[in-house]
Amino acid sequence: MPKVAVLPGDGIGQEIVPQAIRVLRGVLAGASLQLEFKEYPVGGAAIDAVGRALPEETLTACREADAVFLGAVGGPKWDTLPAPERPETAALLGLRKALGLYANIRPVRMLPALVDASTLKREVVQNTDLVVLRELTGGLYFGEKGRKDNPPAAYDLMLYTEGEVERIVRLGFETARLRRKKLCSVDKANVLETSRFWREVTLRVAADYPEVELTHMYVDNAAMQLVRYPEQFDVLVTENMFGDILTDLASMLSGSIGMMASASLNGKKGLYEPAHGSAPDIAGKNLANPLATILSGALMLRYSFAREKEALAIEEAVGKVLDAGYRTGDLAQAGDKVLGTKEMGDAVLAALGG
Ligand code: IPM
Ligand code: MG
Repeated sequence: MPKVAVLPGDGIGQEIVPQAIRVLRGVLAGASLQLEFKEYPVGGAAIDAVGRALPEETLTACREADAVFLGAVGGPKWDTLPAPERPETAALLGLRKALGLYANIRPVRMLPALVDASTLKREVVQNTDLVVLRELTGGLYFGEKGRKDNPPAAYDLMLYTEGEVERIVRLGFETARLRRKKLCSVDKANVLETSRFWREVTLRVAADYPEVELTHMYVDNAAMQLVRYPEQFDVLVTENMFGDILTDLASMLSGSIGMMASASLNGKKGLYEPAHGSAPDIAGKNLANPLATILSGALMLRYSFAREKEALAIEEAVGKVLDAGYRTGDLAQAGDKVLGTKEMGDAVLAALGG
């Protein structure tokens, strides 16, 4: 039986992950694929339990599992730790690097029921349907970093190898080929050497995909275009840091960051998690929106287990629940039926059946 290493982590991670697992079990009831879910400590919770954000036992389990399902890590309690020990760095970046998860996929689709939940105007966001592919194991996040004296200074090196650029860009073309055949490569080639290199590699790879329309856009312009006219985008591909910033921005095009699912892949293995954080301010209160995590479960079925039918069933169930007017607090407007985290899980499970 394929194994899923389940890492709920910190804050709302402890509440949203169990709801997603219930939905996954629900959609797979009676299916030929059965998954074994096993929990492991990670993040601040693991620091408290065993003194390290990514314990050896957890890492080994993730290496051996067919997929990893993560909630969120971090919180004020661990913010004062030295950078390499913090949950975000040690656990999240540690897992991405150790498992070689170079491709981060963040789909952004406006569901009809949520058009008015966005802070942006209906006519701007209503037809949003795009995917951001973020390079996840290179660039500023993983380049050499350090401090200097006289005068006091700090640096983070941005470095990309040809192979690193090529594999993520290729995935961009492959993704676009299966969609509306438009790929926008986002860079800062007017200033950065890494971006000029990125562009060269992208143009070379483009020769293998004549059916895909390739455009290039500077990252500052891309940020503006995403809120001006998001419909113009199909697939965006970009480096690690630009992708981090643009995906938070793009999440508002679907109503809330509480809707944004995320898959981090290395070809064989995948880690699935909501794109949002551990929200310590609402943790433990049954207030968190579990939908991004539930939708990450759908991505896991799609990318790690090739179960498109069941993935769609989850996505449709989420759509139905929202169409029926059910919302968690982050999405609620006057007149909506506000549900807690667990009750939202119940509602999606019920919608799966009917
Ligand atoms: C994300 C997060 C992480 C990142 C943080 C928590 C390290 O913001 O997954 O987008 O910057 O990659
Ligand atoms: Mg981020």
